[in-house]
Amino acid sequence: MRSIVVTGGAGFIGSNFVHWVVDNQPDVHVTVLDALTYAGNRENLAGIPDDRLTFVHGDICDEGLVDELFASTDACVHFAAESHNDNSIADPSPFLRTNVQGTYVLLEAARRHDVRFHHVSTDEVYGDLALDDPARFTEDTPYHPSSPYSSTKAASDMLVRAWVRTYGVRATISNCSNNYGPYQHVEKFIPRQITNVLSGRRPKLYGDGLNVRDWIHTEDHSSAVWAILERGKIGETYLIGADGEKNNIEVLEAILEAFGLGPDEFDWVKDRPGHDRRYAIDSAKLRAELGWRPSHDDFAAGLAETVEWYRQNEDWWKPAKEATEAKYEAQGQ
Ligand code: NAD
Ligand code: DAU
Repeated sequence: MRSIVVTGGAGFIGSNFVHWVVDNQPDVHVTVLDALTYAGNRENLAGIPDDRLTFVHGDICDEGLVDELFASTDACVHFAAESHNDNSIADPSPFLRTNVQGTYVLLEAARRHDVRFHHVSTDEVYGDLALDDPARFTEDTPYHPSSPYSSTKAASDMLVRAWVRTYGVRATISNCSNNYGPYQHVEKFIPRQITNVLSGRRPKLYGDGLNVRDWIHTEDHSSAVWAILERGKIGETYLIGADGEKNNIEVLEAILEAFGLGPDEFDWVKDRPGHDRRYAIDSAKLRAELGWRPSHDDFAAGLAETVEWYRQNEDWWKPAKEATEAKYEAQGQ
């Protein structure tokens, strides 16, 4: 593979993936296609030399532009999405457009130009598990999405499967658990709490705080996506996870501790409507078939590095903080 288009490459996971490719795949040229919505930031790609990266400011729903880019690429890794559950509850409409219509536009271009396509999806398409259920999600778990966001991601997965079967598009899908690391928008749980403390606010916990997420460092997500792009079997789905189950109280306590704050120094706020209880990934297929392993196995150390990144990069997160908190406050969160 010599050239790849990365959609959503100026967002959190997309930009971490672009950095990973630039650092680990010296012969690959990356073209980022990103609309720079509120979640995209050109600064996330700062420092990457021009001979490794072409940045295209544009929309994945723009058929002409997508067609032009797909005419001269070997592959596309599709990260672009509206990605935040709370936003999807407040206004589902951009989620339908970008996540469903946008994926359709990309699939049609992949079909016309026979481009290898990797679709980045989420474990949320499987709905949730009970706290006392020993089960984890596998590739065979039935789809059961709960939120407008996860239902649009489920719809996009279905489009990819249909385009593989009906038109022979050379595509794979991955469904990953919750990512953490640098460049994550301050609307998301971990960065929101870190930047709340850094800006003199109290952290906010939804509901009873017992909801479980299965945390993976974003660098491990990147290496898994690359393994699937290179060695994955066309038409297959791979679950990506690093055995990182923790409830929200545990994660928040670790953040409070990193700042030398007591375990009660946060506010309980209104729960998210339809809030999924627990996600848990069984990534046995990815490990057995593609030999992938996560390299970040110490969550406490990864979280400490992430806290440090936000301490050192106030200029990066500050511009988005006030508006994000104003939105949450209006929602009672
Ligand atoms: P993000 O919100 O941080 O970034 C999304 C990026 O997509 C932004 O740069 C934005 O500008 C761009 N974008 C949005 N609409 C666009 C459009 N119409 N055209 C072109 N670009 C557009 O999201 P993220 O958290 O980095 O998630 C990336 C992908 O990974 C998503 O598909 C998401 O469903 C999936 N995913 C995320 C997680 C997670 O923990 N964040 C876990 C599993 C899967
Ligand atoms: O599982 C993968 C998914 O992980 C991705 O598909 C999504 O794009 C990504 O946003 C993430 O979804 P979540 O809804 O799990 O992430 P979020 O960071 O919004 O919330 C994580 C948990 O923390 C969830 O149980 C809600 C809770 N929460 C969140 C916020 C923002 C709080 O308790 N307080 C908060 O302030």
